[in-house]
Amino acid sequence: MLAAALKNIFNTREVLEIIEHSKDVAFCCAELSEYVDGVSRDEAYLIGLFHNGGALLLATKEPETYPKFFSLTNSSPISGVHKEIEKYGTSHMDIGILLGQRWKLPVEMLNVIMHHHTERNDMGQEKIRGMMAMVKISNMIVNEISLGSYITEEAKSYLKNAQQELLLDPETINQIRRILISSL
Ligand SMILES: [Fe+2]
Repeated sequence: MLAAALKNIFNTREVLEIIEHSKDVAFCCAELSEYVDGVSRDEAYLIGLFHNGGALLLATKEPETYPKFFSLTNSSPISGVHKEIEKYGTSHMDIGILLGQRWKLPVEMLNVIMHHHTERNDMGQEKIRGMMAMVKISNMIVNEISLGSYITEEAKSYLKNAQQELLLDPETINQIRRILISSL
């Protein structure tokens, strides 16, 4: 329903690809919410869907160039964002916070939007740390499927920090990956 509403607002091919990515991330977040204290399935889905809202706006304004930078933020979650800032003078997190405020998202979600590309995961309240870890792991699961075996070292370390936060074993992540693949 929310995903359909987003599609009506933003409906170019470049934007639809990002919405599809966000829907897959939201699906994984909902599955991972079982392992995060105090985060409901609905909240998890919502943050998965909205965490890259700033990327939707950038893709709407810059359809020619932005898809490449969106891919970079996925394959290299830290340095990809530096390249995005160099190119556009801002990041999809900063724009996402402005949109999130307009959409009246709760403050915890704004924190997750702000920090979902931060390498460390050990800051903020427990719920925020749990949600950040959930969004990061979900992104890595989705990216790994769409990017194949091309996973950078910085992506691996970003995933490891998030995995430690939730004390998840690799088998749980494999299981969520299988559920996502079977739903595609
Ligand atoms: Fe992002």
